[in-house]
Amino acid sequence: MAEFTIRPLSPFGAEVVGAPPTLEFSEADFGTVEEAWLRHGILVFRDLSMTAEQHIAFTRRLGPLHIMTPMHFNLEGHPEVFVVGNAEEGGKPVGLKDAGMGFHSDGEDKAIPNAGSFLYAIQVPPEGGDTLFADMYGAWDALPDDIKAKVAGRRARFSRVTLHHVHYPHLPALTEQQKLDRPDVWHPIARRHPRTGRTALYIGRWAVEIEGMEEAEGKALIDHLVKFAQAPERVYRHRWLPGDAVLWDNRCTQHCATPFESSRYTRRMHRTTLEGDVPQLAA
Ligand code: SIN
Repeated sequence: MAEFTIRPLSPFGAEVVGAPPTLEFSEADFGTVEEAWLRHGILVFRDLSMTAEQHIAFTRRLGPLHIMTPMHFNLEGHPEVFVVGNAEEGGKPVGLKDAGMGFHSDGEDKAIPNAGSFLYAIQVPPEGGDTLFADMYGAWDALPDDIKAKVAGRRARFSRVTLHHVHYPHLPALTEQQKLDRPDVWHPIARRHPRTGRTALYIGRWAVEIEGMEEAEGKALIDHLVKFAQAPERVYRHRWLPGDAVLWDNRCTQHCATPFESSRYTRRMHRTTLEGDVPQLAA
């Protein structure tokens, strides 16, 4: 019998209380964890002590892993682990600084966005650097009927090329090759989750246009949906301690990193990322 319990969090998500620190589960227990992940959208673990191999092995049980490109910030010897934060080794940054500011889901600007991500806290500041998670099933369910009718059947254009300088002002501009590698993509705004069949609002920080709408009208609707998705009553704030990890489902949640005093503190997080599938329009 499982020695851990699944405790719902407010306003959504759940904590796995008493999981083995290495996340090595039996088949049956892994099934319970996976089912809880699909049901709650985010799962919080605490007091973990995982090697990179164990982090990778747990995530791989959920599906094929995605290797982040460019590879600059992947852990040496473990390209499946993407390092986030301001940590340095030998005077050189080992992670992507200021990653994930602004609500988004991972890979939303790609033709095949990532199904899920698993972020493990190695070193965290004593204050700041929280991560916010928004419930996108809840956002869809709460949308007024007239807005649902407006977006039903429509897709939004997500564009890294248009917004790279806005979301990553501290990074070099995209090269012509990088622009070719990250073409704009269209995704349904009402997205059917491939495993649960539920409908989630699918919008985020790279969305720039809605199909069949005048530019200004589409932009205004995107701004409205983005704001609506971030309503505090549907947002869980995770205040990190070292050894915490959060597994999220990018198909029905969004997340957003928050700032901290990076001149005083180090924040180092290790993320594994799951491959996904082409987003499907909800019926
Ligand atoms: C991310 O967007 O994957 C990083 C979130 C965080 O560092 O809080």
